[in-house]
This record gives sequence, C-alpha cells and structure tokens, in this order.
Amino acid sequence: MQINPCGPLHGSISVPGDKSISHRAVMLGALASGTTHITGFLMGEDCLSTIDCFRKMGVHIDITENEVTVEGVGLHGLSAPEDELYTGNSGTTTRLLCGILSGQSFSSVLNGDASIQKRPMGRVIKPLREMGASIEGKNDNHCPLRIYPSELCGIEYRLPVASAQLKSAILLAGLYAEGQTTVIEPAPSRDHTERMFRALGVEIETNGNIITLEPPEDLHAVDIAVPADISSAAFFLVAGAIVPGSELTVRNVGVNPTRTGILDVLRGMGADITENNFRDDAEPVCDLTVKYSRLHGIEIGGSIIPRLIDELPVIAVAAAFAEGETVIRDAQELKVKESNRIAAMTTELSKAGVDVEETEDGMIIRGGRIPHGAMFETYGDHRIAMSLAVLALAAEHSSHIIDPEVVAISYPDFFDTLMQLGG
Ligand code: S3P
Repeated sequence: MQINPCGPLHGSISVPGDKSISHRAVMLGALASGTTHITGFLMGEDCLSTIDCFRKMGVHIDITENEVTVEGVGLHGLSAPEDELYTGNSGTTTRLLCGILSGQSFSSVLNGDASIQKRPMGRVIKPLREMGASIEGKNDNHCPLRIYPSELCGIEYRLPVASAQLKSAILLAGLYAEGQTTVIEPAPSRDHTERMFRALGVEIETNGNIITLEPPEDLHAVDIAVPADISSAAFFLVAGAIVPGSELTVRNVGVNPTRTGILDVLRGMGADITENNFRDDAEPVCDLTVKYSRLHGIEIGGSIIPRLIDELPVIAVAAAFAEGETVIRDAQELKVKESNRIAAMTTELSKAGVDVEETEDGMIIRGGRIPHGAMFETYGDHRIAMSLAVLALAAEHSSHIIDPEVVAISYPDFFDTLMQLGG
C-alpha cells in the first residue's frame, strides 16, 4: 500500500470500540446469569477470537450490525470445548482465559498464532499455580497451555510487572477460588476488569495499588456500552498534531485515567488537545479535538508507562517530528507485545531517516527533521502498521506499507477513516 504525504486533516470521526473492554464484556457476559447486550463492540480479529473461544465452550453469542448479545451461562455453566481454544494474535484473550479456565471442572488447551507462541505466559502460570491451578506450558512459559481441573484458593500476589492482563487473569481465577484474592500492582494498569466486576455485582475493593476480590455466588448481567478505543484514537491525535494545518475531532473516546497517558504526553510535547462533552458512566467518555502545533521533545518513564503502553509506537512517531530529544525509558514490556516494538520502531524510523537509538528499556529519538518516507515492514503488528502510516502522512516523500491488512486485528477500517479525514 502506498501512502503519500497529505495536506491538512479535517473532520469529525468515530473510531472502533475499546479492545480491552470488548474482550471483558464477552468474557464476563458469558459468566453472568442473564443476557448481556453489548453496543460499540470492536469487530476486530482479536475480539472475534474471544467470541470464538466462548462459543466453543457452549455460550450462545449473536452478532448483528449494532450489537453483540451474549447469553450468559453462569459462573459454573461453561462446557468442555471439543477442540483446542485458538486465541489468534490476542494476548488479552490468552491470558485472561487462562485465569478463567483454571477454575473450570474440565480440561482445555489454549493456543494462538506464531506471535502468541513467543509471548511470555510464565507470568500468569506462576500465580495461578500458587492458587492451585494445574497448568502445563511449553518450557513453563509458552503456548500451547494445557489446563486441568483443580480446586483454587485465594492468594495475595505482588505483580512483578504492571500488567492488566496478568492482574485480570488472577482476579478472574479468584472468581472460582476459596477465600479472598488480592493483587498488588507496582503501578496502576488499566482497571476495566475491576470496573466491570463492580457493575456486575462482584465485591471488589481497590485501596491504592491493592485490589481485593471476594468470590461471588454469581454475576448479574448488565448491558455494556463500549466507548471508542483511545489506543485507536491515538493514531489520529498524533496525525492531527503533526500534519500542518490539521484540526480534527474523535468522538466518544474512553478516557479512563488508567489509559490517558497519551494525552498527558502529547500535551507535554506542546500538542493542542481539548476535551468536550465529558460524561461518566461505568467508564468516562468525551470527544477529543486536536489541532496542529509545533511539538518538542519530552522524557517519558516511570508510572506513566502502563497508562500509554500501547501508544508508545505512535508516540515515537510524534517524537520524530518534535524539536529536540525524546527519551522513552522503563518500557521493556514493549519487547514482548505483538512484536518487539522497540526494535521494530527503531528499525523502521531509521529507514525513514529519523535519528533514533534503541536502549535497553526504550528509545531515544532526536526529532525535528522531516522524515523522508520509506518501504515499511510491520512485523505482523497492527500498531506498528498504523503508527508508520501516520508517519507517512507527514513525511517528505511517499511511503509503502508491506502488509497493511494486519490493522484488522484492532481496526479493520483504519485506512478508510484516514482517507475520510483527507489522508
Ligand atoms: C491489555 C493490557 C495491556 C495492553 C494490551 C491489552 C488488556 O497489556 O498492552 O493491548 O486488555 O488488559 P499488559 O497489561 O499485559 O501490559
């Protein structure tokens, strides 16, 4: 796919539903008693993998144009899948399901694509085993994971990494455990699981960085409206900030404080972003408007990292256009995402003429010179593809993206929306 440098981007757009919330809505809807109507669901490949896995465990899930309907089977109503549960490219499906499956009275096998088979699963296996789960993984760290029936008991567990997937896997297993389950986070990660548990009547308490769950009798189905994904909005926020003359609005974006690190960083770089029509339901939502402005470099590290972990590739693009040095540190988790995102972005930004250096836990980008465009690889990673597409809009010459179809993991209509804005 060829992407040409473009003139100002203008317009008001909506982007697809939040990926993290969409996964959780299906999972908790399946385990609830009653019917869950989900609006704004993300019809991306990852979330469809979650639906597929629950269908294989006997959950009736209906997809129409506007709604996903999940007929909950109750906490103990899942049935043994006949085949392996295939999670595709989705780390969230794999890790969260691992927690749920640990508490079932049947055996199961979890597996995914080549990227999933490389991603660390030891981080979930270890605490789940401490809870009494019986799990086998390749080298105790990789898919396929074999999970056998066992009795679980609650634990208190200090997370070695600030990971919402790990936290959620433990809390989901906690639904099936005898006694309380407590997790202690090193820094706040996204709290969608906790919020949804509360909405479904589960007793869960957050006290600073300590989260404690009481195993419930059952979960009560509630309808769920999924806000637009700030991780998808991020591509347009950066595009609007770096393409001269742009002004654009992304509507109904989820602005849960555990996800808004991107707004703090872009504003810290000098971006002009305003929030309108704020409302707060189970999750806070607003419209975000960005106007082009000159950006400058910034230091990014510490506890903000989990609040913008998925946005770091596109933040690196913003940094390439920002005057001066941007330092990203404490971001070693980026190496174990859908691709090694530090290596991928360093290599691809260099191809476009950006002065970028890979470090052990991040990168240093010396920006301010307009990149010249390039033939970009995506490493099969949706967010790398979309980040480089954004760079290409503001580059000096045309660029090519080798396998643009990978965007379908989280944003099937990404390129259409880009063109709608004038890209
Ligand atoms: C997610 C948590 C994040 C994020 C991923 C989705 C979730 O991963 O990178 O895209 O839905 O819980 P970690 O919490 O493992 O860093």
